[in-house]
Amino acid sequence: MALRHKDVLGLKDMTVEEIDEILNTAELMKHILRQNNKRTPHLQGKSIVTLFYENSTRTRLSFELASKYMGASAANVSAASSSVQKGETLIDTGKSIEAMGADVIIMRHPMAGAAHLLARNLKASVINGGDGMNEHPTQGLLDIYTIRERLGSVAGKKVAIIGDIMHSRVARSNIWGLQKLGAQVVLAGPETLIPMEIEKTGAKVYNQIEDAIEGADVVMGLRIQNERQKDGLIPSIREYVELFGIDEKRMELASPNVVIMHPGPINRGVEMSSKVADSPSSAINEQVTNGVAVRMALLYLLTRRRSTSHDMY
Ligand code: CP
Repeated sequence: MALRHKDVLGLKDMTVEEIDEILNTAELMKHILRQNNKRTPHLQGKSIVTLFYENSTRTRLSFELASKYMGASAANVSAASSSVQKGETLIDTGKSIEAMGADVIIMRHPMAGAAHLLARNLKASVINGGDGMNEHPTQGLLDIYTIRERLGSVAGKKVAIIGDIMHSRVARSNIWGLQKLGAQVVLAGPETLIPMEIEKTGAKVYNQIEDAIEGADVVMGLRIQNERQKDGLIPSIREYVELFGIDEKRMELASPNVVIMHPGPINRGVEMSSKVADSPSSAINEQVTNGVAVRMALLYLLTRRRSTSHDMY
């Protein structure tokens, strides 16, 4: 089975078969990562470019390492020091990168839909590294991979996502992807940070964090952005911690085998206590490792598809 499209833009439009194909390929890639010599020739002769209009540590670096481990040429365009600052459009920037031979462009952009716009205008594959408040599909995939690795399967598991759902592209990708694979997704956070129509996705909203965590197999914290307090969406960080902070006492309500997750970066002591983040139940570091394996899998599947499909140029 191959991926249906030349791009990876979101989990909302991905089939279960495609998600399974990516997760199974990531498992093979994880074997490579465990070896002393991580080099493989899967991407030899390919060019991968990261184009980031927002800050990133994990996503950008893991794509760069994934490219290099598999023998590709990898380069980064930082919007802050590029011709974007001179007024160049996103499409012109993308076309220039493509004209230099890029096979895959990974883009993070503050505008929802920016990756779709770029993908429509290029023959190169585009991977969405996060577009505004819309989706962060590679984070969703690595989260699903981590749950499957820790718990054996995703189907039937209760996954509680806690915090700022409104502004979280990670939450959206997880809601789409996890529910497709049969998980029950529940959400909790301040009313001002829960989108009105979110229950239409099938996810259930709780006002009390305790109800969301009760019996949960996975508890995923989301970063509380300090600017939300300035926007008046949370009265104070102290009050947020009191009402929605993930701490040891609240975690006692979860399943005994609970997996604690966070996409990072973490505000320790705000959305999650350090004791919880560093506990044996925490898979936060595994998420980062798995991010490299999942991104290796995506680069491999997309470039293989390009080598065999008619939309090759
Ligand atoms: N989780 C995540 O996307 O992290 P970065 O912002 O560091 O890429």
